[in-house]
Amino acid sequence: ESPCLLLMRRCLKWRFHGRAFNDPFVQKEKEKLSYDLVPMKNGGVGVKVMYMDEEHIFSVEQISAMLLTKLKETAESNLKKPVTDCVISVPSFFTDAERRSLLDAAQIVGLNCLRLMNDMTAVALNYGIYKQDLPAPEEKPRIVVFVDMGHSAFQVSACAFNKSKLKVLGTAFDPFLGGRNFDGKLVDYFCAEIKSKYKLDPKTKVRALLRLYQECEKLKKLMSSNSTDIPLNIECFMNDTDVSGKLNRSQFEELCADLLQRIEMPLLSLMEQTQLKVEDVNAVEIVGGATRIPAVKERIAKFFGKDVSTTLNADEAIARGCALQCAILSPAFKVREFSVTDATPFPISLLWNTEAEDTEGVHEVFSRNHAAPFSKVLTFYRKGPFELEAFYSDPNGVPYPESKIGKYVIQNVAAQKDGEKSKVKVKVRVNTHGIFSVSTASMVEPVKSEECEDVSVETEVEAQDQRPIENFKPPSEENKIPDTNEKKGDQPPEAKKPKIKVKNVELPIEANLVWQLGKDLLNMYIETEGKMIMQDKLEKERNDAKNAVEEYVYEFRDKLSGPYEKFVCEKDLQGFSALLAETEGWLYEEGEDEAKQVYVEKLEDLKKLGTPIEMRYQEAEERPRLLQELGHRLQYYATIAGEFRNKDEKYIHIDEMEMMKVEKCVSEVVEWMNNAVSAQAKKSLDQDPAVHSSEIKAKLQELNNVCEPVVTQPKPKVDSPKEENPLSEQSDYKTEDMGEDDKNSEMPQQNGECHPSDQNTINMDLD
Ligand SMILES: *[C@@H]1O[C@H](CO)[C@@H](O)[C@H](O)[C@H]1NC(C)=O
Ligand SMILES: *[C@@H]1O[C@H](CO)[C@@H](O)[C@H](O)[C@H]1NC(C)=O
Ligand SMILES: *[C@@H]1O[C@H](CO)[C@@H](O)[C@H](O)[C@H]1NC(C)=O
Ligand SMILES: *[C@@H]1O[C@H](CO)[C@@H](O)[C@H](O)[C@H]1NC(C)=O
Repeated sequence: ESPCLLLMRRCLKWRFHGRAFNDPFVQKEKEKLSYDLVPMKNGGVGVKVMYMDEEHIFSVEQISAMLLTKLKETAESNLKKPVTDCVISVPSFFTDAERRSLLDAAQIVGLNCLRLMNDMTAVALNYGIYKQDLPAPEEKPRIVVFVDMGHSAFQVSACAFNKSKLKVLGTAFDPFLGGRNFDGKLVDYFCAEIKSKYKLDPKTKVRALLRLYQECEKLKKLMSSNSTDIPLNIECFMNDTDVSGKLNRSQFEELCADLLQRIEMPLLSLMEQTQLKVEDVNAVEIVGGATRIPAVKERIAKFFGKDVSTTLNADEAIARGCALQCAILSPAFKVREFSVTDATPFPISLLWNTEAEDTEGVHEVFSRNHAAPFSKVLTFYRKGPFELEAFYSDPNGVPYPESKIGKYVIQNVAAQKDGEKSKVKVKVRVNTHGIFSVSTASMVEPVKSEECEDVSVETEVEAQDQRPIENFKPPSEENKIPDTNEKKGDQPPEAKKPKIKVKNVELPIEANLVWQLGKDLLNMYIETEGKMIMQDKLEKERNDAKNAVEEYVYEFRDKLSGPYEKFVCEKDLQGFSALLAETEGWLYEEGEDEAKQVYVEKLEDLKKLGTPIEMRYQEAEERPRLLQELGHRLQYYATIAGEFRNKDEKYIHIDEMEMMKVEKCVSEVVEWMNNAVSAQAKKSLDQDPAVHSSEIKAKLQELNNVCEPVVTQPKPKVDSPKEENPLSEQSDYKTEDMGEDDKNSEMPQQNGECHPSDQNTINMDLD
């Protein structure tokens, strides 16, 4: 299992996640797409596509899941390992609904998303982890501003770096400013020119417009490195007309003046939020394709009054950051310690009804740029179930039409036995994905205890609690739990000196979230994706089977007029060549689109003729070498037998009977080999061989098995002939037996003292 890096290209499809079909953003983008968007039953965004020759509608989650499947398969085929873990990047301005929807897409594919990581945080990690010269913890941290302008969005963040830590101080963005806006300016310019010059309107034809977009993107790239006039030529653009035009960089900058002006705003916002002055910024790192536009770079440099650095890979900085994060989070990798603290991009508030009067209470639980992940515990005093509503406190700052995050009903709350309000602790958190939740709730019940009945501490706390905001206790320092390890159920530290015992009763929470895919729908998507993966697999197998037939035809045709020529008789050659030619024709005609089994059978038919030829060729290649080896071996054993007969010192210890076995085996094999050689000599190359190489190999093995143990018997040591020490022999045996299975260590090792029954036990065990 290895983590997989996934780069969510900031293409628009991701931006339809967690949005309604009638969301103004979706409606605006819909016009510019080459595919159709349609509403789903639940009001979400669907995409109409042709699949298996039929029109289908897939939800955005499903479409993203398909892309993730493709990425997963690509990664798996490269790594030759299954991929289960991933880190996915998202723009920092993604709201909870968008984030949850993307997580659903990962779930559809069965990918375990370890973290949804904000783009800029991924870039910062990729920057910091390699830096050797970061300040020590006690020194002033290094402040780096990261600026990213990709295809569709502009994001900036300020980060503070220590030797082994990065903290995001703040983020700002223009979610609708990216490379595509610059392309759009060029498209508008050339549309007007084409209209006046050729009386054609590209905006009436989607295909022509898309082509113009592509050409303008190329032009934009050329202008980034070349300030002279650059031509634009498109052949057969519309109505069979070739169109042409030209533009240079200074004209381009003039066209885009309003876009360039928008660069400053997020930068100003960032400095204001973080209370940083430009002098505090040690470095400005830019990434993202659109930062290659010289005017964009200049604007950023001018704002900070210093040169911008381009030390990171503009296109891959985010993906690399995600891969690093994935490696850090995954136990499969060892990465040097580097802690990442992100910031909450939007302030989040909670709203609730108070019990006494019909009034509402509200509190900002996470301020803008609050450290994340993070948990807080809030305390309420209630007699019954109550409702909390979470929302973004600054709706205008959120690029999403809905400021509500969700409603949470804290259930099963009841008054104390004495009729007093119960103390209810509610834990809220922003998790590692940047998603808010009311994660747990518990009711604190006093337990009667004879030893100590001092209630004063509790009442005191209670009295204090009621002051700030009616019966709401704003989180105090000790209730804040930075969520580094993401462990569930970490309880807030209890008040230090409670004299009465209490017990916490977990309370169920009913959550009703904005744009949450239901469980049933999600399960249906999982099932559908599984079926489609299976379908793709079948289709791939079908294609592979077809390709196998094609390959066989071409390979055999080549070899028949080459190495295989001698191994097939004239008549067979003609028949086979005809079949190959016929099959080739069939593949391009009626056999072009057949079921897998048809191809499998075709291949089998070909192999019926091809395999014997292939076999004869291979046999002829191997036979001489094997026969030679067998001959050498026979010679070797015969020589030893001869030396034994001549009373050679070397073999004097060998038993006469055993040597006779060697001699017998040698003469039998010699006879077998002679027969085989003469039988083979009568065969021509295009006939099946008289003796197969597998038979020769078997004979060789047989010869070695009989002779080798005899001739390699060690000479006995003169001092201690084995027979004289049966005990040690027995213990030798035992050690050997034990050695065969060293896992059997619990078996008693009674060297030298074992009696026969022990031996039996051991042998039986080992069998
Ligand atoms: C750097 O280390 C100091 C001391 O541990 C800490 O107070 C400060 O917050 C750290 N800076 C960052 C960026 O984490
Ligand atoms: C760019 O084009 C404008 C208008 O055609 C022209 O005035 C200007 O000299 C050109 N600049 C360069 C560097 O070619
Ligand atoms: C700039 O573009 C023009 C027009 O395509 C070309 O003739 C010229 O060689 C280019 N200059 C450089 C430095 O690439
Ligand atoms: C281009 O072709 C369309 C239909 O094919 C026609 O309606 C239109 O008038 C043509 N435009 C010009 C400028 O020829």
